[in-house]
Amino acid sequence: MVGADGTPNFAPPNPHYRSLMPTVLITGGAGFIGSHVVRRFVQRYPETTIVNVDALTYAGNLENLADVDQAANYRFERVDIRDAAAVQDLVDRYQPDGIIHLAAESHVDRSITDPMAFVETNVIGTVNLLNAARTAWAGAMEGKRFYHISTDEVFGALGAEGFFTEETPYSPNSPYSASKASSDHFVRAYHETYGLPIVISNCSNNYGPNHFPEKLIPLMIHNIIEGKPLPVYGDGKYTRDWLYVKDHASAIDAVYHDGRNGETYCIGGWNEWQNIDLVHLLCRTMDAKLGRPEGDCAQLITFVKDRPGHDKRYAIDATKIHRELGWKPSVTFEQGLSETIDWYLSNKTWLRNVTSGAYLDYYSAQYGA
Ligand code: NAD
Ligand code: TYD
Repeated sequence: MVGADGTPNFAPPNPHYRSLMPTVLITGGAGFIGSHVVRRFVQRYPETTIVNVDALTYAGNLENLADVDQAANYRFERVDIRDAAAVQDLVDRYQPDGIIHLAAESHVDRSITDPMAFVETNVIGTVNLLNAARTAWAGAMEGKRFYHISTDEVFGALGAEGFFTEETPYSPNSPYSASKASSDHFVRAYHETYGLPIVISNCSNNYGPNHFPEKLIPLMIHNIIEGKPLPVYGDGKYTRDWLYVKDHASAIDAVYHDGRNGETYCIGGWNEWQNIDLVHLLCRTMDAKLGRPEGDCAQLITFVKDRPGHDKRYAIDATKIHRELGWKPSVTFEQGLSETIDWYLSNKTWLRNVTSGAYLDYYSAQYGA
């Protein structure tokens, strides 16, 4: 079926649809992490209907799911979570057993130029979903689950030592992390106040295929391919803890199915890198893969103006999820990075499609080039 705007729209065929199979709504399923979660759930749970709920903003791309969109248990619904009535209608129609909520504005630099977009989608959109779930599940919360996907950025910045844990106090520094912190608080509050069955996870930086090239790793890969400057903010000595996106999807699977009601789980890669060292590693790996002389890509490194409010260091202690759910990362950074670069080199059409049009305006506003 095709909706009025031409996008595929597979609405449930009849009002008794709910009784046929368990149903999970995944919001933000056309985005980077969401598409890997949708694929994993569609393939691993053929007896569950997986509904991808996405507004298809600049970051959403149905091409990410071309390999599973014909599966019998997959549906797509183009819904903007800022629209409370549309969200309620969707939840009423599907009567889902679970909601895995990833839809968000996700880029710190964009949050600095347009914070309201982050309030509207990340805060109000999340509350719209919570209200719809609470209404649809009223009196029958047993077996239901609202799973909110969040970020380690809500905890603020670490110094040289220590790790974020589930007990770390919230101290967000960017409009993005403030909006995610706010949404986390609403999810917790709906659990405490209304007994909504919830679980939250806070994950470190992801990387992998289908990552929109506004974030560090895909932006650097794209610029290396294009021979453009590699813009490193400030002195480059900021540290992030990188996790392969498919490992995040497996953690989400574990938390969704086995996480304890009302709990938070920190997810991370035990894999800290200073940005400048990471960019040098990318340069060396890409010199080799592209057959360029050693040191060629590194000549593109350019130090640029720092990001305001730039958090110095993020690092996750992922002991709880390992102890309770047996989860740990399965892919080494070298493997993950190599697979990621190979994916971008073999998917130049995808890259071209997402870096034309509005991307060029974003890029020149952000980097002045
Ligand atoms: P992304 O920007 O790649 O994708 C976001 C998706 O949400 C897109 O498909 C977009 O179309 C959709 N969306 C945006 N606004 C919407 C709206 N109003 N209504 C419906 N859909 C909307 O983001 P991502 O990197 O895949 O992140 C997914 C989630 O994971 C986010 O909640 C983010 O905060 C969280 N997270 C991301 C990372 C990371 O490193 N990328 C790390 C930890 C947590
Ligand atoms: P990013 O991928 O935006 O993730 P986040 O800010 O959410 O952690 O940035 C990762 C790190 O890389 C962060 O310290 C900012 C830095 N960075 C650059 O140095 N240059 C860039 O062009 C970008 C996008 C990020």
